[in-house]
Amino acid sequence: MTLRAVIAGTGGYLPARVLSNDGLAEAYGLDTSDAWIVERTGIRQRHMVADGETVSDMAAEAARKALAQAGSEVAEVDAVILATATPDAVFPSTATRVQAKLGITRGYSFDISAACTGFIYALGVADAMVRAGQARGVLVIGAEAFTRLLDWTDRTTCVLFGDGAGAVFLRASDVAGQRGILSTHLHSDGRHGDILQVEQGLFRMAGREVFRHAVSKLASAVDEALAANALKQEDVHWLVPHQANLRIIEAMGRKLGLPPERVVVTVDRHANTSAASIPLALAEATRDGRIGEGDLVLMEAIGGGLTWGAALARF
Ligand code: COA
Repeated sequence: MTLRAVIAGTGGYLPARVLSNDGLAEAYGLDTSDAWIVERTGIRQRHMVADGETVSDMAAEAARKALAQAGSEVAEVDAVILATATPDAVFPSTATRVQAKLGITRGYSFDISAACTGFIYALGVADAMVRAGQARGVLVIGAEAFTRLLDWTDRTTCVLFGDGAGAVFLRASDVAGQRGILSTHLHSDGRHGDILQVEQGLFRMAGREVFRHAVSKLASAVDEALAANALKQEDVHWLVPHQANLRIIEAMGRKLGLPPERVVVTVDRHANTSAASIPLALAEATRDGRIGEGDLVLMEAIGGGLTWGAALARF
């Protein structure tokens, strides 16, 4: 019997406060412009957590929506796996806080730290657990309050990020079929740790260096995912990439030969929400009817570590 992890529901949460590029520049006295930010990144606005709002609050909200869309009850949740670089605390894990907020008192929960690649890592771990029979219902969440890490005097980084949470509910299926996560491909290379890191509590990035790694590493992860499943570029219905920069997203779409309308983009409205960006994009595109049952969805991300990876799923 082959167990597959089917993405049964998705959910997203964005904090109420929205800041446009101009609003951000004004609020923090930045020497920047809407034109520069849009041209270099595609970002037009971002959401920001409220004082007192926590990552586990946002994550729990996204998870509730994913469970509701799946028609599932919390009793079906065996595990909560949460990717974040901005946990509520060192411990207890943010995942256990989400577990408590959802009223789940059984199973197990833990956090994953892989920066912007966190959701792909969490999906990989969850998929392996489902295949191994260690869980039949798994909440996989990416949730971040990155704006709490930003140096508001550094215009090269503080314009790039936003806050939010996204979740998927995975349900084990032993029905022979094509649906579910087909494969995940995880990579890291710690030699490049210093080009994207948190130093003394503040986010630092060598943007050009990261850009260079992103284009080549994402392309090879995508090729690897397709080859592992004997699939071709033209089999892919949707690219749901990590949302860091529109130029990188468009380059990946072109590489796959996908028309722009087959690439899910949220970076213009969400900015980079790190581990939350892919599940937020999945939530948007499944709820508005773009991604439907049977569609082949390719996900990819790169982030601090360096970490990077790709996942293929049939909805
Ligand atoms: N507003 C106005 N000017 C800015 C600015 C801002 N917010 N940020 C930087 N600049 C200036 C720089 O000071 C520099 O000026 P100079 O030429 O006078 O020194 C100029 O713009 C170019 O800066 P540079 O950093 O070379 O720009 P870039 O084209 O590389 O774009 C990024 C910067 C960050 C948008 C781009 O490198 C990038 O997206 N990198 C990848 C980031 C990424 O994917 N990170 C997340 C991975 S999870």
